[in-house]
Amino acid sequence: MSDLLERLRAGLPPEALITDPDVTASYAHDMASFCEAGTPAVVVLPRTVEQVQHVMRTATALRVPVVPQGARTGLSGAANASDGCIVLSLVKMDRILEISPVDRIAVVEPGVVNAVLSRAVNEHGLYYPPDPSSWETCTIGGNIGTASGGLCCVKYGVTAEYVLGLEVVLADGRLLTTGRRTAKGVAGYDLTRLFVGSEGSLGIVVKAVLALKPQPPQQLVLAAEFPSAATACDAVCRIMERGHTPSLLELMDRTTVRAVNAMASMGLPETTEALLLCAFDTPDPLADLAAVGELCTAAGATEVVPADNPAESELLLQARRMSLTALETVKSATMIDDVCVPRSQLGAMLAGTAAIAEEYDLTIGVCAHAGDGNTHPVVCFDHHDPDESRRARESFDAIMALGLELGGTITGEHGVGVLKKEWLARELGETGVELQRSVKAAFDPLGLLNPGKLF
Ligand code: LAC
Ligand code: ZN
Repeated sequence: MSDLLERLRAGLPPEALITDPDVTASYAHDMASFCEAGTPAVVVLPRTVEQVQHVMRTATALRVPVVPQGARTGLSGAANASDGCIVLSLVKMDRILEISPVDRIAVVEPGVVNAVLSRAVNEHGLYYPPDPSSWETCTIGGNIGTASGGLCCVKYGVTAEYVLGLEVVLADGRLLTTGRRTAKGVAGYDLTRLFVGSEGSLGIVVKAVLALKPQPPQQLVLAAEFPSAATACDAVCRIMERGHTPSLLELMDRTTVRAVNAMASMGLPETTEALLLCAFDTPDPLADLAAVGELCTAAGATEVVPADNPAESELLLQARRMSLTALETVKSATMIDDVCVPRSQLGAMLAGTAAIAEEYDLTIGVCAHAGDGNTHPVVCFDHHDPDESRRARESFDAIMALGLELGGTITGEHGVGVLKKEWLARELGETGVELQRSVKAAFDPLGLLNPGKLF
């Protein structure tokens, strides 16, 4: 341990190292509940690429595991410390290095907060779409590690579609440049894409070239109330089938709506079984909202209310973004699923989830990026009650099994971390896992980067 600190100190300023156990303990885990987390030996907060290289060279020399971290808003334990590890927090590398309206790119360090980047590019008439609910605090490095999604993905796609190139410090300290800053580029294997969603297991992202879009007009949101999840899912299918391009299409079930109202008095309609939020940032959003409103009514909506203005629309989005936090207050603990199914199967997924809630006698609130078929069933339970905790874990697993049965994936945007490790193997199969392990070994032969995650 003292050898580790001594070597780290040789290449880092004193303020970049935290050793006080009370403070390092606060870096032990992300926001996922019920995931194992060890005790870090030290937390390092580098400010330069050279400092990251020094950390990795030291870790390799001494065979010390390294756990990279952003803002720790992750929901699968992927940023959780392992015993004796170096926690490598990238939050101080938070500079926006370049915004180019001509090339439509931004070049950033990994610690830039998503919302800070979004606002900075807005000033140039540009738009960085990926918008996880935690966008006010989560970092771009974390978004890349997790391959984050968000609300706008139904129209604009996920983080992977915006990462053009990377600079990555490898396990042994070498600096790798991947990808491009050009509009096109097909030189060799797509290592950039490989790093997106690798959960810190292949290298440390120290710089990213991100694609930007022209800023669209401000979106307007419509809220539609449905008497059942099935009718709301039918509306989602009709909207997508007709070729509409909503900039978000979200669902909140009754449990979620009530939890949000209880937490923030948002005045959402509590009698509805499923609230659908649909937005357009098209040249004529009111016409699009009117057309979608008709489709909702035809599918069985009891009430269709277009927001009058952008401010009202923003309030509805805030309500949606706080869903998870609100559901966390329903009982003492939650487990959050992230199953994504083909959107044609969304109705079956929600019906199956309701059946699971009944079978295990639990409250499972659901919010969903409905337009993507990406559901977040949130199992609410009392973690002091051993039987209820067991049922919670079993229902959490049953939801993933159902997702796979319906042709979906166990995780649309939160990642595997430690929470869904067994399930990754089920989804990928033996050959898939074998090849993924070989890829990991090619980048990290000593197995020092974020050990115990994914596999
Ligand atoms: C959301 C997070 C939980 O959709 O992914 O709010
Ligand atoms: Zn989500």
